[in-house]
Amino acid sequence: MAVHVSRIFSVLFMASVMVFILSWEHLPKSISWADFSGMYRHRGENISYHSRVSFWEVSSTAGLTTKAETTESTKAAEASKRAKNETPMPVLYKKSFKMLPRWDFEDVYNQDAPPRPTTCEQSLRNSKDESFRKAFLPNIRLFLHKDNINMSEWNRLSHFNNPFGFMEYKYNDVMASVKLIPKPEEPLLLRPKPGGDGCVRCAVVGAAGILNGSKMGAEIDAHDYVFRMNGAVIEGYEDDVGSRTSVYVHTAYSMYASLDYFKKYGYKGAPHDEGIKYVMIPEGLRDFQWLEGLLKGEKIPYEGRFHNIEPRTYYSGQYNESRFYVLHQDFLRYVRNRFLQTPHLNTSAWPIVRPTNGAFALFLALHTCDVVSAYGFMTDDYKKYSNYYFEKAVKTNVHFYVNHDYLMEKDVWKDLHNSKVIRLYQRTEPQTEKEKPKQR
Ligand SMILES: *[C@@H]1O[C@H](CO)[C@@H](O)[C@H](O)[C@H]1NC(C)=O
Ligand SMILES: *[C@@H]1O[C@H](CO)[C@@H](O)[C@H](O)[C@H]1NC(C)=O
Ligand SMILES: *[C@@H]1O[C@H](CO)[C@@H](O)[C@H](O)[C@H]1NC(C)=O
Ligand SMILES: *[C@@H]1O[C@H](CO)[C@@H](O)[C@H](O)[C@H]1NC(C)=O
Ligand SMILES: *[C@@H]1O[C@H](CO)[C@@H](O)[C@H](O)[C@H]1NC(C)=O
Repeated sequence: MAVHVSRIFSVLFMASVMVFILSWEHLPKSISWADFSGMYRHRGENISYHSRVSFWEVSSTAGLTTKAETTESTKAAEASKRAKNETPMPVLYKKSFKMLPRWDFEDVYNQDAPPRPTTCEQSLRNSKDESFRKAFLPNIRLFLHKDNINMSEWNRLSHFNNPFGFMEYKYNDVMASVKLIPKPEEPLLLRPKPGGDGCVRCAVVGAAGILNGSKMGAEIDAHDYVFRMNGAVIEGYEDDVGSRTSVYVHTAYSMYASLDYFKKYGYKGAPHDEGIKYVMIPEGLRDFQWLEGLLKGEKIPYEGRFHNIEPRTYYSGQYNESRFYVLHQDFLRYVRNRFLQTPHLNTSAWPIVRPTNGAFALFLALHTCDVVSAYGFMTDDYKKYSNYYFEKAVKTNVHFYVNHDYLMEKDVWKDLHNSKVIRLYQRTEPQTEKEKPKQR
């Protein structure tokens, strides 16, 4: 599951450690957060974190949510009064925070109109698992587009680091492209197949080595929709991983770098099934530059790695504005906060710590499908398999990069499986009992 292309983050991590060492002594002793944004208070640093399992127990933070919501609605009234002349708040810098800052509106998210009513009895929306039900927001806002952002949204989201918000970014650098993102024609992303039982059945396919020799291809392809992400090498591996792709999740960097990194395994470009939906994780500033080029159908004029490349050429001829989606910062933050908390957020590496693209893809499926099966995600016995399923010839080891907490994610997949929210493809029974007493 480790993303080969993220080796760069090890370098970034070292660089950021240096930055911290260099910059800390120059920081003012205390910053008045109330004045900083003009709207919100910083929640202080003694916020209770939750362990992986208990974090689902959002009831323990229910008081907090209510308080935050109340604060939010008062502030919202205030904000809309001032909306006309509102301006971008002063830029916040990551280096001003020793660990992930927690705001009193941290766990407040935009939600959309109630989702499609499901007639699917087995839908995960009807899950009996109490902690999952409490954490799960069925109508969390999934997609960012030009009509759901405005100045107060900009200011709210500027408190969160990328990809969870716009901290450290300048308004014009980001909004130039956000203002081009069309409102999706199909806001639900997926619909039940006509003539079926009303259930949307999805397979989400990661690249973990466990799929090598699995012969899961036919089973995967039998789902209504198949999600894939990153370097989804398919040709030559169909027996194990299937051949269809309905939803392809990517960042600008994964799109760009996969071509290089996975060429030797036969990867020729992004999946391009007819009618495929492309979903982008807006990871950082370069993703907004990519978006601008993509949506305008032009080359990227900005200096940097993507200079002069034409994003549309990366979509294997299937780019179509009406099937292109950008994940919303609130959705990404919600996934991290409610399901994938890690102690790494409490370290100076916090600005680069985030769930994997595979994790975001799986949670996208949880919010757009009724029945979800995950294949090629990390399992307890990961040491038996190569890093990627396409590393067939030589057994490789799973790479761990500091920006992701793979072992925590692995445990969450197992928990979701055990609580029957998803079905996780595993080859051997997990040896959990001795490891961690179950709280549910
Ligand atoms: C945070 O810590 C301070 C001092 O240790 C304490 O007075 C305050 O009640 C704590 N706040 C919360 C929300 O726990
Ligand atoms: C700004 O956008 C948010 C989220 O879409 C919305 O809830 C809010 O009402 C908007 N505010 C104004 C002043 O238009
Ligand atoms: C884009 O996709 C939509 C929906 O699938 C389709 O109706 C339309 O014809 C496509 N446009 C082009 C140019 O292929
Ligand atoms: C994060 O740090 C706070 C103290 O600042 C601590 O109370 C909390 O347990 C830590 N969380 C994790 C997951 O390590
Ligand atoms: C991949 O699977 C094949 C067929 O089961 C097996 O022969 C091979 O050793 C596996 N490769 C690795 C690296 O595990």
